[in-house]
Amino acid sequence: MLFAGKRALITGAGRGIGRAIALAFAEQGCDIAAAARTESELAETVALAQQRGRRAAAYPCDVADPDQVAAMAQAALSDFGAIDILVNNAGYACFKPFMELTLEEWRRTLDVNMTGIFLCCRALLPHMIARRSGCIINISSVSGLRPIMHQSAYCASKHGVNGLSVTLAMELKEHGIRVHALCPGGVKTRLSDEAMPERDKSDWMTPEEVAHTALYLATLGPNATVDIVYLRRFGSVPLGG
Ligand SMILES: NC(=O)c1ccc[n+]([C@@H]2O[C@H](COP(=O)([O-])OP(=O)(O)OC[C@H]3O[C@@H](n4cnc5c(N)ncnc54)[C@H](OP(=O)(O)O)[C@@H]3O)[C@@H](O)[C@H]2O)c1
Repeated sequence: MLFAGKRALITGAGRGIGRAIALAFAEQGCDIAAAARTESELAETVALAQQRGRRAAAYPCDVADPDQVAAMAQAALSDFGAIDILVNNAGYACFKPFMELTLEEWRRTLDVNMTGIFLCCRALLPHMIARRSGCIINISSVSGLRPIMHQSAYCASKHGVNGLSVTLAMELKEHGIRVHALCPGGVKTRLSDEAMPERDKSDWMTPEEVAHTALYLATLGPNATVDIVYLRRFGSVPLGG
C-alpha cells in the first residue's frame, strides 16, 4: 500500500475526478475526508472508500465560503488527527464569449477555482507546517496553460491556480511541503458535459486516468518533485504543436 496511515482531504469528491482520486487513494490505504456541497454524492463516495477498507467521512462545504471551509477543515482535522494530503479539486466552469459573461459568473469562477484553493490551503497549512510535512495537489486544467476560446473566466482562474501553485511550492519547500498543479485536458465528467455539451467526448480521458497521475504526484520524493503536469488526451496535439 502506497499510502498506509495517510489521510487525504479531497474537495469536489462527490463525483468525477475528485471521487476517482478519493477511491484511487483509498485503494492504496489512504483514509479519506471528502468535501463538496451535495451530501448524497459525498455519502456515495464515503461508502465506496469504506468498501475499500478505509476510514472515510463527508464534509459538506462550499469551498468559496470562508466560514464553511474553516468549519470543514476543523472538523476533518479533529476527526482524522491530521491531513497529510490536500487535493484542491472542486471546480466551476462557465464557458461563453467574454461579452456574454456576467460579473456574477466571472466572480463565481474565481471564487470557486482560485479563492477556494486559497481558503483550503490557509485552513490546513498551519497544521502541515507544524508537522513539517504535507502534499498539496491543485487540479488545474489545460486552460491554465493556453488560451481557449470562450473560456476567459475559466482560463484566468486556472492560470491563477498554476501561478499560485508554483509560488506556494517555493514558499513551502522549507517546511517540507510539496505543491503540484495537475492540468488535465478533456475528461468525461458532468462538468465537461454541461460546459461543452456539443463536443464529441468519445476519446476524452476518464477521471480514473487523472486519478492515476494524482497518485503519482502524491508519492513523489523524497528528493524529487514536479511542479506542473500537463495530462493531455492521447489523441490531442501537444502544447505548441
Ligand atoms: N472535466 C474536464 O474536462 C476537466 C478538465 C480539466 C480540469 N478539470 C477540473 O477538474 C476538477 C473537477 O472537475 P470534474 O470535471 O470532475 O467535475 P464534476 O464531475 O462536475 O465534479 C465537480 C466536483 O466539485 C464539487 N464542487 C463544485 N463546486 C463546488 C464548491 N463551490 N464547493 C465545493 N465543492 C464543489 C462538485 O460537487 P457539488 O456540486 O455537490 O459541490 C463535484 O463533487 C475541476 O477543478 C475542473 O476545473 C476538469
